[in-house]
Amino acid sequence: MDSDTRRDISIVKYLTKQFLCCTAIVKMNFMLLDGNKDYPLDLDIQKQILDSTINSDLIKRYPIKTSYQKAFLKLFMAKIEESGNAIHDDLYTTYCRLISLQDEESVHYRHFLIENGTLNCITLKESTNLISKGTTGLCSWQGAAVLSDWCSENIRHFHGKNVFELGCGVGLTGMSVISVCSPNQYIFSDCHPTVLDMLCENVKLNFLLNKQHKLSNMCDTSLRLKLQLKYKQTDIQIIDLKWQDIDKYIMESSPQPDIIIAADILYESDSFDSLTLGLKHLLTSSNYAVFAATVRNENTISQFLEHLGNHNLAFEEYTSPKWTTSIQSINSPVRILKIFRKI
Ligand SMILES: C[S@@+](CC[C@H](N)C(=O)[O-])C[C@H]1O[C@@H](n2cnc3c(N)ncnc32)[C@H](O)[C@@H]1O
Repeated sequence: MDSDTRRDISIVKYLTKQFLCCTAIVKMNFMLLDGNKDYPLDLDIQKQILDSTINSDLIKRYPIKTSYQKAFLKLFMAKIEESGNAIHDDLYTTYCRLISLQDEESVHYRHFLIENGTLNCITLKESTNLISKGTTGLCSWQGAAVLSDWCSENIRHFHGKNVFELGCGVGLTGMSVISVCSPNQYIFSDCHPTVLDMLCENVKLNFLLNKQHKLSNMCDTSLRLKLQLKYKQTDIQIIDLKWQDIDKYIMESSPQPDIIIAADILYESDSFDSLTLGLKHLLTSSNYAVFAATVRNENTISQFLEHLGNHNLAFEEYTSPKWTTSIQSINSPVRILKIFRKI
């Protein structure tokens, strides 16, 4: 393969990756990672990019929101014009098709390509709004993507371990950890009924269609357990659990987790008491928690850290992951906190 062909493949892959997870249009990068100018977008490359994004089978089956597809195509055509190339007829045809569609969907899909020797794609059904049905949990937050990346760069914390996630939302972090890190057990927990339903759909969509799964007997008497299945070596559970009820859960359930994780659950200081108390029940002298916290308001994070101190818990900071799966519209810093019991 010559170097031009290799560069063509990598620009197609790079743009496809950004498109599938709905990278904010203003952050969309048409340059190669190692390049310093826009890539020459000839007719052949245009067609390859269109066929692996908007016109791909994945998008036909699990569409991302129409307004995003339109905005992406508009930007793509503007970039082609800037580069002095003619626009491929298929781009015009696709644009006409898209503008004839309604773009008021309340749910859509996003797809996260993660490389782990082989290329995995996590498909997530989400709400198109950050807050809907009275919850923040129906779409993935920036912290979920950053925590996924941190976990992929720190596999040893998860491989063969029992992992417990608090406030998991629609499941991006968990599904990435299961795919990349092969834990022994992964427990997703959240408390909102619509979030739990969408999470169950997402977990089944990604892990049940695969031949290597085993759905457990669901005659479980606990009302908490919403779904249990085996994917490769991982026992996956989805449970309905409020932070306020973690003490009861610990009494009814099996061993303490090896690691507890959470993304973007530090936004409401009213919830910090129940969260810290619940976390304290999950922590022992030999395990720890890793929280990804997007810093929208320094004060809110400081209040949470104060709560930790008041409950005899300590924290340290991990370095952020080197690369990120997706760049979303809000680009606030994300802190990765290790939380543990003071000795
Ligand atoms: C901002 S969302 C973050 C979701 C996901 N971790 C992410 O980063 O995409 C916060 C999540 O915490 C859950 N949550 C809020 N309060 C909770 C509580 N008291 N007990 C359990 N889950 C809670 C919500 O239902 C929601 O799914």
